[in-house]
Amino acid sequence: MTSALWKSSVLLTLLALALVSCKTKSYTQVEYMPDMYRQPSVKAQELDPNAPNGVGMRQPVKGTVPRDFEPYRFGFADSLEAKKLRNPLTPTKDVLAAGKKYYETYCIVCHGAKGDGYGYIVPKFTMPPSLYSEKLRGWTDGLIYHTISIGQGLMPSYATQIQPEQRWVVVHYVRALQRAAYPTPEDLQAMKGSAIGFDTDLPDTGKVQIWPKK
Ligand code: HEC
Repeated sequence: MTSALWKSSVLLTLLALALVSCKTKSYTQVEYMPDMYRQPSVKAQELDPNAPNGVGMRQPVKGTVPRDFEPYRFGFADSLEAKKLRNPLTPTKDVLAAGKKYYETYCIVCHGAKGDGYGYIVPKFTMPPSLYSEKLRGWTDGLIYHTISIGQGLMPSYATQIQPEQRWVVVHYVRALQRAAYPTPEDLQAMKGSAIGFDTDLPDTGKVQIWPKK
């Protein structure tokens, strides 16, 4: 082989390598187990030509419920019935601690730590009404449960994220927030000298907004 031929073949090889390495890195170049990588199964978000609407993710068959799932039987028009639902749980320390956990996972972002409506996403998102307004303090546990279960206005339903028992736990925590905003004289007495200062940690009830101005 002449040296010119040598040079050009080396150059060609380098060029080929350069082109190969230019490929996008978003997928594996070498497939060690192509059988595992290329499965006939349809993955979430993928299109499925066999599905009626071409979408890979299917809706459950109408009228079926997942195993162990307890569907909520009331709709928007049934608030009078839902109002009568009783909270099956006692607000023990554990229940309230769990309520705080769920509230701070699902509700705090909009309703704020104290339930005043100053959540992290406000004012980018419409400010929700206070959870310790006179109106809400007059609501039954069932009605609060109903709101968490089916949503209200801009607030979506939390039925798929929060199981029925956990929703009752959250209702107790909402009650605790209301009581923290309007402590009884006994509460104030009991808190004297404790680390939690009702005088400093109390939400500002003077600014309660039933429905914030737009
Ligand atoms: C995405 C923001 C958002 C989240 C998260 C959210 N809410 Fe709401 N919530 C709202 C808004 C907005 C309203 C007012 C809806 C309306 O009436 O149009 C509302 C209304 C309510 C009401 C009725 C208040 C009234 O005066 O009518 C209750 C009770 C309530 N939410 C409880 C909760 C609880 C408990 C959680 C957590 C499980 C929660 N919300 C999570 C935004 C949210």
